[in-house]
Amino acid sequence: MPRPALFVTRKLPPDVEARLARDYEASLNSGDVLPSRDGILSGAAGKDGLLVTVTDRIDADLIRALPPSVKIIATFSVGYDHIDIAAAKARGIAVTNTPDVLTDATAEIALLLMLGAARQATSAIATLRSGQWKNWAPTGMLGMELTGKRLGILGLGRIGRATAHRARAFGMEVHYHNRRRLDPAQEAGATYHADIERLFRVSDVLSLHCASTPETRRIVNRATIALLPQNAIVVNTARGDIVDDEALIEALASGRLAAAGLDVFANEPNLDPRYLDLPNAFLLPHLGSATRETRNAMGFRALDNLDAFFAGRTPPDLVTV
Ligand code: DGY
Repeated sequence: MPRPALFVTRKLPPDVEARLARDYEASLNSGDVLPSRDGILSGAAGKDGLLVTVTDRIDADLIRALPPSVKIIATFSVGYDHIDIAAAKARGIAVTNTPDVLTDATAEIALLLMLGAARQATSAIATLRSGQWKNWAPTGMLGMELTGKRLGILGLGRIGRATAHRARAFGMEVHYHNRRRLDPAQEAGATYHADIERLFRVSDVLSLHCASTPETRRIVNRATIALLPQNAIVVNTARGDIVDDEALIEALASGRLAAAGLDVFANEPNLDPRYLDLPNAFLLPHLGSATRETRNAMGFRALDNLDAFFAGRTPPDLVTV
């Protein structure tokens, strides 16, 4: 039986590519050149499936233009806002993602962002690296302690819960909002707020862990930022478009918010350049899942889904609309 043919849009970790080469007729991207829209379409010609990442915009037009041979799109990511799921369903194309395996890595980055933002790491590092650190000063470079602060989590899913778990070790009090209240075991003592306004009012640190959907896009905006306590911190490891950049930049520049820790941005990698001039913005280039362990696990998880699909089984991480 011929091996299924796959178009793989990005270079993947060596062990993942080795398994791909062993089990599939895989067209790999050894130079890791970002494929254009036309590049994805021509790469998909004659393929049974696509293995894509968050950098590929798989919108409805592209899905409609895919050759009929393509039956599955496996994304090497937990998020799938870059894929039009309804359009894929309409074409009978299965979509899978890679949940679970990046939970811990992303929660670690959320804590890094909280600490970096709270302790003003951006300006402190700049002072040191530019040779302007003259001496230790009792009143110099003061940040905010996380201990005893209220952490508001918007979206207490897998990553939100892993972040809450770590934050408790820092002595933070956890609050959250989800559409539905979780059971007590999953809450682990966190206080539920049925509406986001109440959550924002008690969040000394607000950490975003919800998916990007029409309901959550720009949910952090001028009106909701105004609800946060004075000198609050906003942390985002979810998706950039959950935040209205204009409003966040204004609040950081005016000092209404003490700081922000951001790993994701609208229109990546072309983030709003004004962030770069803000000493109270602690910024990372979408590193949430960027550990060797996690990137391997993401690749293997994507392959487990493809293997199941081509063996005629339901893939474990089938995304449904
Ligand atoms: C995902 O998997 O959705 C992440 O954003 C990639 O780190």
